[in-house]
Amino acid sequence: MTFVVTADCQHCRFTDCVAACPVDCFHADADMLYIDPVQCIDCGACVPTCPVEAIYDEGSLPRDQQRWLAINAERASVLPVIRKAEAPLPGAHARAFQRGQDPLRRP
Ligand code: SF4
Ligand code: F3S
Repeated sequence: MTFVVTADCQHCRFTDCVAACPVDCFHADADMLYIDPVQCIDCGACVPTCPVEAIYDEGSLPRDQQRWLAINAERASVLPVIRKAEAPLPGAHARAFQRGQDPLRRP
């Protein structure tokens, strides 16, 4: 089992999740993050840290997000690890608010 970053991370990239991970399994490109399923220890610590609820347990992936399981594995295998949180992408907060989410709320 692994956890999976899904579509709502795209163009947002809040990176709060990175600091929660005890085993450095987040990898990044300019657009979003991906979880390495080989490294992930299924602790779930990253889930509540994401302000846009983009991270799911593999077993709880919504039907329309299933493709992200393979995408995370493929992208994580070729991208560098990200260990420190960075500023979200421009417009990330506005996009989250448009979806009815409050990215300023923290667990
Ligand atoms: Fe890291 Fe745990 Fe999230 Fe897996 S479930 S990505 S090990 S914080
Ligand atoms: Fe993406 Fe959420 Fe992490 S937006 S970078 S999965 S905190």
